[in-house]
Amino acid sequence: MNTTAFQARTIELRDGTKLQLRPIVPEDEALLHEAVAAMSERTVYFRFFSPIKRMSDALAHRLAVVDYNDRFAIVATTRKPTGKERIVGVARYDRASGTDVAEVAVAVIDEFQRRGLGSVLLTELARVGRAHEIKTFSLIVLPENSEMLGLLRKMGWIHQARLSGGMYEISFDLPETR
Ligand SMILES: CC(C)(COP(=O)(O)OP(=O)(O)OC[C@H]1O[C@@H](n2cnc3c(N)ncnc32)[C@H](O)[C@@H]1OP(=O)(O)O)[C@@H](O)C(=O)NCCC(=O)NCCS
Repeated sequence: MNTTAFQARTIELRDGTKLQLRPIVPEDEALLHEAVAAMSERTVYFRFFSPIKRMSDALAHRLAVVDYNDRFAIVATTRKPTGKERIVGVARYDRASGTDVAEVAVAVIDEFQRRGLGSVLLTELARVGRAHEIKTFSLIVLPENSEMLGLLRKMGWIHQARLSGGMYEISFDLPETR
């Protein structure tokens, strides 16, 4: 298990809010449920392609337990007034078996959207992916998801897009790591 491809650290959003970034850990399962509960229906639908109110425990477990190589996730956290940690954003990749291509998913809870966090998470995920020999990220985006399409456009990350079954299949080659 190599969590060291990503060093936990504090980041500052453009409005000055400080957050912690760290690799996901199995103990985050409950925090993932809480994060989904804090998302609007729109955010949940764009992330999961389904209007779920709560993830199944099996899905939460699968999302929280990664191998830090073929599957990696970075979480952004803050502290509640009680001092308890809270997940406010997640970016993950899942490598297509035996390839250098990985599918990406990202979500930021509504309260923290439009402050630059999605961009930070994807940039960091790309760095981790590169360190694990991943060359291409792919993702599926609903055409009405102006947030994600806007984010990818801003980052210059739409290298190929095709409409298939009412969804955009987007892929982009990761920049070389410095
Ligand atoms: C997509 C998502 C991750 C963006 O997160 P975010 O933290 O708000 O993103 P950022 O603040 O870094 O936004 C970066 C850029 O994306 C674009 N963008 C973000 N939200 C936008 C919106 N509502 N409309 C248009 N463009 C938008 C803008 O260009 C923005 O830059 P700007 O604020 O300087 O104009 C977030 O909206 C989300 O969680 N959506 C639901 C889940 C999802 O759709 N995931 C993708 C499929 S897995």
